[in-house]
Amino acid sequence: MKAMVVYDSLYGNTGQIAQAISNALGSQEDVETVQVSNVKPEQLTGLGILVVGSPTQKFRPTGAITNFLKGIPKNGLNGVKVAAFDTRFTMSEIEKTPVLLFFVRLFGYAAKPIADRLDSKGGELVIPPEGFYVEGVEGPLQEGELERAAAWATNIIAIQ
Ligand SMILES: Cc1cc2nc3c(=O)[nH]c(=O)nc-3n(C[C@H](O)[C@H](O)[C@H](O)COP(=O)(O)O)c2cc1C
Repeated sequence: MKAMVVYDSLYGNTGQIAQAISNALGSQEDVETVQVSNVKPEQLTGLGILVVGSPTQKFRPTGAITNFLKGIPKNGLNGVKVAAFDTRFTMSEIEKTPVLLFFVRLFGYAAKPIADRLDSKGGELVIPPEGFYVEGVEGPLQEGELERAAAWATNIIAIQ
């Protein structure tokens, strides 16, 4: 089954998670990992699995990810298994700034709106959206997150 992991990344952390997910899927699927600015619409044709990930920026996915999702035609993901992830601050980082904590509780993170959009385009959401933690704005990833991402991705293949 053809699979694609589409991601955006400002500092490289989301890219590392995307690669870990691809590697985990790649043990069983024919996988491509593509930075969102390089995705061409025809690459979505014939896909069995689409995973989309973004850094959380201001409680949302990046503009490039949002535009990519908006550009998928209605029912364009019919029959495609989909999953969404983000990278985000650790809770201990967020708790240092009470106003940030307030807004995070109100607006959340990028993965859920990505999942909702994939679902609205006809995709079959096979696992819940997931967030992976970075230490500070530029990272690095919290220890163990690459392994956790690989384990998360394995669940996508398990549901056939
Ligand atoms: C402009 C900006 C806004 C951000 N807003 C949030 C936020 O609302 N919630 C959060 O958890 N992290 C936020 N972060 C931290 C990012 O999630 C973090 O930089 C990102 O996960 C790193 O991934 P990347 O290396 O792929 O860019 C923000 C970072 C930037 C640069």
